[in-house]
Amino acid sequence: MKEIKIALLGFGTVGQGVYELLQKNKRHLGEKLGLEFNIKKILVRDKAKKRESQAPDELLTTDFKEILEDKEISIICELMGGVEPAKTYILSALDKGKLVVTANKAVLAEAGAEIFELAEKKRIFLGFEASVGGGIPVIKTLREALIGNQIERVTGIINGTTNYILTRMLEQNLSFEKALEEAQNKGYAEADPSLDLRGIDSAHKISILASLAFGFYIPYNKVYVEGLDEVDLMDLQFSRDFGYIVKLIAEARKIKNQIEIRVHPALLPENHILTSVRFNYNAILIRGDFVGDILLYGLGAGKEPTASAVVGDIVSSAEYLFAKNHPLIPYPKREEKESFIRPIEEGVFKYYFR
Ligand code: NAP
Ligand code: HSE
Repeated sequence: MKEIKIALLGFGTVGQGVYELLQKNKRHLGEKLGLEFNIKKILVRDKAKKRESQAPDELLTTDFKEILEDKEISIICELMGGVEPAKTYILSALDKGKLVVTANKAVLAEAGAEIFELAEKKRIFLGFEASVGGGIPVIKTLREALIGNQIERVTGIINGTTNYILTRMLEQNLSFEKALEEAQNKGYAEADPSLDLRGIDSAHKISILASLAFGFYIPYNKVYVEGLDEVDLMDLQFSRDFGYIVKLIAEARKIKNQIEIRVHPALLPENHILTSVRFNYNAILIRGDFVGDILLYGLGAGKEPTASAVVGDIVSSAEYLFAKNHPLIPYPKREEKESFIRPIEEGVFKYYFR
């Protein structure tokens, strides 16, 4: 059996999920693919930290160079979060010819132009399935399955933390603070949960989906964002009394030759397909000119579903490694197309959904 050596950058919720999956399903993957995936090194900040999953001490390191210079390691999975040093590590790994898998939407939404450019230049595999929608294969769907379509709109609930909070507040009368605490304990929230609550995480994700849907790189600062800051329990309850459910919606759509891209709380009629998306589930509606409407639904945050997406990308990397098939489908390109982004007035969309 061929062996593939992997390094994980980060051993938090997602890193531990990937470690557990590769251990538990080692035989299953071996039988299916004839490959053995072994984690050789794990980068952390604090080697002594107590974790749910303990890896052997000799795997842990605080020195990225040790991983970068290790010729046996062919796949590097960036599972740390944040823009720096994640960006520098991803760029140096690609530069060294290592295959990179990342779950980090912040780094792609803020520094993706540079990262995609280098992956393209090096003609190397860069997997980012876990960056949007947790275990839902939305990146492959947009990049591959729907490639023949011109995408008209992408609409979704793409933040598990806020969806969990909204569900627990409305259905169990939980306070906002208690619901947030639960989401954090379950490992759904970002290290800085204000990214979830202010809509920034959804903005990061919709900018990635819009870049794939519309064919050029759209940084997240082009997204109109309103978070949950001004939503309270009474809003949720009154809305329900009038037949509406409040959800944090992210949408990118084409209007004539412009793209409108936004994140905001919205009132959805009770019978809308997205109102049945509860807790840490996500759903993404995509409309293509030939496929029509499709709906992707599944667990959008948490250790196991996210690990599932990361390991899917690890296997795709291995395919690249052995077949040496350069990725045919290009990554989103940096283009000066600011005029294509439709400006949105402050507050216009609040509690309003078309
Ligand atoms: P986390 O639990 O906070 O874990 C982060 C890990 O990265 C920790 O092990 C930490 O080390 C390590 N780390 C952070 N900065 C580092 C640095 N400068 N040098 C070395 N190690 C560093 O985060 P997570 O929830 O696993 O999320 C990881 C990534 O996946 C993020 O980009 C997140 O947005 C994304 N993601 C998360 C989920 C989810 O449900 N949690 C789902 C999809 C995508 P220490 O342990 O030593 O502190
Ligand atoms: N904090 C993110 C969320 C993790 O709650 O959706 C998954 O990307």
